[in-house]
Amino acid sequence: VTLSTPRATDVEGATPVIETMLAHTSVRRFRPDAIPEAHVDLLVEAMRRAPTSSAMQTTTVVLVTDPAVRRSLRPHAGGQAWVAECPLFIVSSVDLRRNDEITRERGHVNRAGDLRVLISATEDIAIAMQNASLAAQSLGYGSVMIGGVLNGTREIAEVLGLPPRVIPLLGLCVGRPDVGRQDPRPRIPRVVAFHRDHYRLTPEEERTALEIHDEEIIASNYYDGRRIPAADVGLERDPVPDGAYAWREHVARKQARIWWDDATPKLWDDLRALGWRGCEGRGST
Ligand SMILES: Cc1cc2nc3c(=O)[nH]c(=O)nc-3n(C[C@H](O)[C@H](O)[C@H](O)COP(=O)(O)O)c2cc1C
Repeated sequence: VTLSTPRATDVEGATPVIETMLAHTSVRRFRPDAIPEAHVDLLVEAMRRAPTSSAMQTTTVVLVTDPAVRRSLRPHAGGQAWVAECPLFIVSSVDLRRNDEITRERGHVNRAGDLRVLISATEDIAIAMQNASLAAQSLGYGSVMIGGVLNGTREIAEVLGLPPRVIPLLGLCVGRPDVGRQDPRPRIPRVVAFHRDHYRLTPEEERTALEIHDEEIIASNYYDGRRIPAADVGLERDPVPDGAYAWREHVARKQARIWWDDATPKLWDDLRALGWRGCEGRGST
C-alpha cells in the first residue's frame, strides 16, 4: 500500500512534462512583473489546443492584465489577495449564448438544455485551465486556480462586461512566484481513491488508510496556522486539541462552514440571473 505521493525525483521514467506535473504546488504570492506577451500567447494556445467536449468549445476566456480590473474582481472572488496581486488573471466562463444563437440562426431547436452544457463546458474549462497552468509552470511561473470566482459569478460577469448567458466559473492566477520552494501539499493515500478494474476498498480499509494519513499530516504539522476556526462552523470552543487537527477535520470543517448558508442560495440566484436554465421544468420532482 503506497501511502504517500511520490515526488518528481522519486518517479522513474518521468518525462519533462510529467516532472512539471509532479512538481506542482499552488503559488499564492507573486512578483508584479508583467508576463511577456509571447508567453501569454503560449498560454492561450495551450488552452485553445485542449480537448473540448464534442468540439463544442462552449467557453469564453478573459485575460485580465489591467491591475485596476483585477482589484475590482478581488472582492467578488473571495477577497483573495493574489487575485489582485498576480500580473495575469485568467477567467474562464461557460458560454451558453454562442452555440444557442448558432442553433437558432440555423433554424434548429436547441434540445440539449443547459444542464448538460454546464457540465461538459465545466469539464472543458478545467482541462484548458490545467493546460494553461502546466504551460505556465513549465515556463517557470507559479499559478493557482481560483474557484472563488463562483462566490461572485454574477458580479464578475458584470465587471468583465460579459454578454448574457456567459457564466464565469474558474480563475487562474499566473506570475513569477514570490516564494521559495514549497513542500508539496499532501494527498490522500493512493489506495483510497485509485482502483484497478473494480472498486475494491472496504470501509475499514478506507478508515485505516485515512487514519494513517491523518497521523502523517499531524506529524508534519501541516495544519499549524492553517486551521479553519471553530467559529466558522458555529462552535464556541474548539473541541479538537492541538495535535489532532488533520485532513479529515479540515474537509469536514470546509463543508460545515456557516458561510455556505448564504453562499449556496446566492449561487442558485446568480446562475438564474446569468440565464442558466438548467433546472426549469426538469427532473422528477
Ligand atoms: C477547481 C479548483 C479551485 C480552486 N480554487 C482556489 C481558490 O479559490 N483559492 C485558492 O487559493 N486556491 C484554490 N485552489 C487551489 C487548491 O486549494 C489547491 O490545489 C489544493 O489545496 C492542493 O494544493 P496544491 O495545488 O498546492 O497541491 C483551487 C484548485 C482547484 C483545482
